[in-house]
Amino acid sequence: MKHLITVCIVVLWAYAYPSMSQMLSESSIIKAHQQWMTKYGITYTNSSEMQKRFRIFKENLDYIEKFNSAGNKTYTLGLNPYSDLTTEEFKASYTGLKLPSHAYSSKTISNEVLFNISTDNIPTSIDWRERGAVTDVKRQGKCDSCWAFATVAAVEGYWKITMGTLLTLSEQQLIDCDNGSHGCSGGNMRSALDNIIANRGIFEEYQYPYRESRGICEKRDMTKAKAYITCAIRLKRNDEENLLRAVAEQPVAVAISIGQDFFKYKGGVYSGSCGTFLDHGVTIVGYGTTVTGLKYWLIKNSWGKNWGVDGYMKIQRQGGGPEGHCSIAFYAVIPCIY
Ligand SMILES: *[C@@H]1O[C@H](CO)[C@@H](O)[C@H](O)[C@H]1NC(C)=O
Ligand SMILES: *[C@@H]1O[C@H](CO)[C@@H](O)[C@H](O)[C@H]1NC(C)=O
Ligand SMILES: *[C@@H]1O[C@H](CO)[C@@H](O)[C@H](O)[C@H]1NC(C)=O
Ligand SMILES: *[C@@H]1O[C@H](CO)[C@@H](O)[C@H](O)[C@H]1NC(C)=O
Repeated sequence: MKHLITVCIVVLWAYAYPSMSQMLSESSIIKAHQQWMTKYGITYTNSSEMQKRFRIFKENLDYIEKFNSAGNKTYTLGLNPYSDLTTEEFKASYTGLKLPSHAYSSKTISNEVLFNISTDNIPTSIDWRERGAVTDVKRQGKCDSCWAFATVAAVEGYWKITMGTLLTLSEQQLIDCDNGSHGCSGGNMRSALDNIIANRGIFEEYQYPYRESRGICEKRDMTKAKAYITCAIRLKRNDEENLLRAVAEQPVAVAISIGQDFFKYKGGVYSGSCGTFLDHGVTIVGYGTTVTGLKYWLIKNSWGKNWGVDGYMKIQRQGGGPEGHCSIAFYAVIPCIY
């Protein structure tokens, strides 16, 4: 039945277009859409939804092809499981950073510790994945919970580096229990870290699995929690050197402001458009310089392995103003144990 509907739609589309050349290019895009649907297991409930999604897919594909064929860029774009969504739709359901207003205020400076380590120990590049301090890329799904994923990746890294064991920890616990955040309606990493401290620990993913929606904070025996922290630090803002020293020690959760190319990123060092406010949370898990001399931050995202480079992105480091590209150095937090 589904195939029959698909065939009918394809035929209708083909007849709706008058000129032969248009018809051919249209049919090749229809084919591309079908292949993309199969690849990512995408289905639509009815034909009007399918037509709407096809139009958006086509716009995205046009944009990607024009961008890539123009060349001479530090990064490339490509299709991913989100390619039938508009930038606005994507931002509305798959990001979710909500910083409290005091995060922007200069009055918070006294709470911001300058994290300093000896310059001698700073490697020219670091990739915490190679040191076994990064778990598999996760997928937040249609839930504005980026803040929980960014936090958990920072804690997972810190726990491995200090305690020697890599654990896959629970985002759902934070989504349900962090009252300073708003579950699948957004939140922030500092509040999430404070919640782990207050709750005396965090469970492993299998103990408190992801549900892609907010539930009631489950009253549990916290002695069964597998990791804990006792403090959290916000790094000095707008200082990429300071951020570098922190990343040399451990993965760092950061806020970024993302623009439309960000969603379509497929490779290289991202130097493209940014948004107008801090709307997404990710974790910096390394840094380095490419063979062509481009400095980058390596970020772990929470949009699954089919986004970016196996779920990761390299984004320009030390390219813009003091706040960094897409304001990556404005709001950075790390867990600690004292
Ligand atoms: C088609 O599917 C979309 C998305 O699931 C839904 O919003 C819409 O109401 C449906 N339309 C019809 C005519 O069933
Ligand atoms: C590519 O971009 C660089 C720097 O923006 C510029 O100097 C160079 O001329 C460009 N090359 C081509 C082929 O457009
Ligand atoms: C932190 O380290 C940098 C580089 O070594 C140095 O310039 C700066 O003065 C240090 N800051 C503090 C507060 O120790
Ligand atoms: C969060 O808020 C709810 C409702 O106000 C309350 O019942 C719950 O105890 C709070 N949870 C925590 C961990 O503070």
